[in-house]
Amino acid sequence: MNVTPRNVSIPENWDRSGLPAWTYHSEAMLELERREVFLNHWQIIGHVSNMPGKGDYLAMDIGPERAMVVRGADGIIRGFHNLCRHRGSRVVADNHGTCNNALVCPFHGWVYNLDGTLRGAARPHSFSDFDKKQFGLKPIETDIWQGFIFIRFTPGPQPSVADVMAPFTEEFGHYRSEEMIPAGDFWTSVSPVNWKSVRDVDNEGYHVAMAHPALQDLYGSTYFDEPMVNGVNRSFATFNPHAGRRWSVRNYVKMTPVQQHLPEHLRKAWIYYGMFPNTVLVATPETIQFYQEFPLATDRTLLRSCIYRFESEDRNVRLSRYLASRIDRDTTAEDIQLTIWSNESMKSSAFEGFHLSDLEYGVRAHHDHLRARLPVMTLSDRPPESEIAVLNQQMKRN
Ligand code: FES
Repeated sequence: MNVTPRNVSIPENWDRSGLPAWTYHSEAMLELERREVFLNHWQIIGHVSNMPGKGDYLAMDIGPERAMVVRGADGIIRGFHNLCRHRGSRVVADNHGTCNNALVCPFHGWVYNLDGTLRGAARPHSFSDFDKKQFGLKPIETDIWQGFIFIRFTPGPQPSVADVMAPFTEEFGHYRSEEMIPAGDFWTSVSPVNWKSVRDVDNEGYHVAMAHPALQDLYGSTYFDEPMVNGVNRSFATFNPHAGRRWSVRNYVKMTPVQQHLPEHLRKAWIYYGMFPNTVLVATPETIQFYQEFPLATDRTLLRSCIYRFESEDRNVRLSRYLASRIDRDTTAEDIQLTIWSNESMKSSAFEGFHLSDLEYGVRAHHDHLRARLPVMTLSDRPPESEIAVLNQQMKRN
C-alpha cells in the first residue's frame, strides 16, 4: 500500500510571511494565548499506565493554573485544580506519585478523598459553621483517548479528543497505545524561546535535509507534511532503502523487527500526529511518544515528553528503541538550536518576517489556526500592550 499525502491543497498565491514578530515577545499576547489557546484546548498530561493504581497521580502547570489527575479507589481518573481550598497550597507537590487512601495538603493537613471531596480539615473545631461539602477540590475536565489522558481547564471550541483526532483514529489505533507502558520517566527541559518558535520549527520538514543528518539518512525523500486542518495535522516518513551513512541509522534500520500487529505500510514508518495548539504524538514501529510545549514567559518555554512501549518487548525491540532514541536525541538538540536562532531574530531590526516555502505551509496553517482564535495577531504593527486584549475582543466580534 502506498502512503501519499492527504489534505495537501495549498492555495495559490498564499501569504508567505507568517505571524508578525511582535506576537513573539508581547506579554499581553502571551496572556491571551494562555487563556484562549492553552487553557481551553485539550492537553496531554500523561497515559493511563503512568498512574495504574489507586491513589496514583500526575500533575502539571499551565501558566498560573495547576492541574492534577488522580485515580480513585473505584479506578476512575478524575481531574482537579492542584489547589487546596484552605489557602491555595499545592495538594500534591510532585508531578508524579502515589498517595495512599487520601490526598493530604502539605501546608496545614487538610485531607481530601481520592474523588476530590474534602474528608476533613485539620482541627475542624477551629472553624465555625464549617460545611465540608463546600470545600472539595475544584474539578477540571478530563478525557482519555487511546490510553492518553487529556485535561482542559475551561470549555473550548474542541469537542472530545476523539472528535478532534477522528481523522487518525483508525491508523493510530493499529499501534495499540492503550496497552503500552512508560519506557522511562517524563522528560522536561526549559528552552529560552517563545513557544511559537518551537512550533514553527516543528511544523515543517523543509529543514530536515539540511539540519537533521540522522533523520535525513533515515527518511531520504520519503518524508511529507500534511498541514493542519481542523486542528490536526500529520507528517509521514518511511525508512529510506539506502539508509545507513550513520551508525545509529544503519543499525536501527537493520535491527527493527517486523511488528506483526502493524499493517505493512506502518512497519517501517515514523508518523507525527499534531493536535492544535502544541501537542504531537509520534508513532514508530516500537513506541508511541508524545511531546508538547508550554509557555512559561514570552521567552521561556517548557518542553515535555514521554515515550511508551509494550511491556513484552524482546531484546531486539529494546535495542531498536535505544537506537531510535539516539536519532531522536540528536534531532531534538538540533531543533532546540534552530528555535533559538529563529526566536532571537524576532527582536532584530533586520528581521522582516518569514518568507515561507510551499514546503513550510504547515507553519502558515498553524498560524492561521492561531489567527482564527486571536485575530489581533493579523495586525502587522504592534498595538500598545494595554490595548491588545480589547482590540482582540473587538476584532472577534467583527
Ligand atoms: Fe492546604 Fe492549609 S493550604 S491545609
